[in-house]
Amino acid sequence: MTQKFRTIIEPFRIHSVEPLRLTTEEERTTKIKDAGYNLFALRAEDVLIDLLTDSGTGAMSRDQWAAIQHGDESYAGSPSWFRFLDAVRELFPFRHVIPTHQGRAAERILFSVIAGPGKVIPNNTHFDTTRANIEATGAEAVDLVIPEGREPQRIHPFKGNMDIEALDELLAKRAADVPAVFVTVTNNSGGGQPVSMENIRAVRAACDRYRVPFFLDACRFAENAWFIRMREKGYADKAVPDIVREMASYAHGMTMSAKKDPLANIGGWLALNDDALAEKCRNVLILTEGFPTYGGLAGRDLEAIAQGLKEAVEHDYLRYRIRSTEYLAEALDRAGVPIVKPAGGHAVYVDARAMLPHIAPLAYPGQALAVALYEAGGIRSVEIGTVMFGRHADGRETPAAMDLVRMAIPRRTYTQSHIDYVIEVVAAVAARASTLGGYRIVDEPPQLRHFTARFEPLA
Ligand code: F0G
Repeated sequence: MTQKFRTIIEPFRIHSVEPLRLTTEEERTTKIKDAGYNLFALRAEDVLIDLLTDSGTGAMSRDQWAAIQHGDESYAGSPSWFRFLDAVRELFPFRHVIPTHQGRAAERILFSVIAGPGKVIPNNTHFDTTRANIEATGAEAVDLVIPEGREPQRIHPFKGNMDIEALDELLAKRAADVPAVFVTVTNNSGGGQPVSMENIRAVRAACDRYRVPFFLDACRFAENAWFIRMREKGYADKAVPDIVREMASYAHGMTMSAKKDPLANIGGWLALNDDALAEKCRNVLILTEGFPTYGGLAGRDLEAIAQGLKEAVEHDYLRYRIRSTEYLAEALDRAGVPIVKPAGGHAVYVDARAMLPHIAPLAYPGQALAVALYEAGGIRSVEIGTVMFGRHADGRETPAAMDLVRMAIPRRTYTQSHIDYVIEVVAAVAARASTLGGYRIVDEPPQLRHFTARFEPLA
């Protein structure tokens, strides 16, 4: 694709459209109040630009819809399963591939087998479902991202990197309690930041020193590979599929949500080389997800994922994808909005704690900003901060490392003018940041409270 012009060309044109429903600020103020100030409780039709997540919300291609017509719903050994298996193994050549209905099912299956009381699982940063699935077994989830990864404004090309020294220290003390070391690419909870190949290699070396298996949480593997290609010495001329295979070559296994980079609306898998572990995991799979050649998915879903995996590693797509996220970040930065820098792959994260210094972390500045963005412009974002991570298994509540608001960009879904609108709304809310107030939680479940908690504005 030509680099001569600056406009981000979406490398596709629109084939079928979905209407967006316009609402007034008054309507939205009522809707969000009725939703207990929790954006998860809104009806999607009351949202104009939905940046809640990039998970399962992307647009499928013509070729994915065509692949769906080939979906074979045989219970066992469907041709769709083999197309899925080949597509997964083309990029992630693990011996065993265990399909699941989404990423957290792969996590639950794996951790129900390898975790449990007394165990500890390090990661650069655990995603919320990963942490919750580990903690649900009685094990401990530890985040060991490099210190730069915890400073929103600090520029670093691979802010998702694991702190190798800290990992080494943990393994030196407790290797026998560590059933696996995880690395999440890209580091979603830390700002969608990439992990370098050098760091992945160093994690593997540390795992080898202590004979501990190494797993990738590979949801955003293609975006991570593109960052490696752009930023890491020696990769500028490599093709993304080769970079992905190299990333996979250092791991003993992986978990995956096909709702992210694989461009599907549902699906996931667990893949690994260890025969005995795979057998145990398959037994859990059969108990809760389904037979090992469909694992909770329809044949047509397997087809959509297989085709999506081919499109996810195309360079024109990834260039557009990463550049369009950066476009939003650059514009917000120019408008003086504090964001996590550099831009992540799938999302832009506003530093709500920096934007709203008058709101204490335990009054949820991220929630305050997310509610304001919805009221002002119908934009749905998500708090990634003290609401999501502040409540501990022992009942204590402490401020999270950061109070961020994530605006995740669904893949191939919104155009540049949608994003220009988002920029206008965020800048307008930022201009009156000092008038926003905090919130308190009036009702919350024991785990993953951000999905269902209800809030009230503080007086
Ligand atoms: N790991 C990471 C890094 C994720 O971002 C997610 C999901 C999962 C695992 C779980 O996968 O949703 O298919 O069960 N992240 C979504 C998000 C929900 O909005 O970031 P899942």
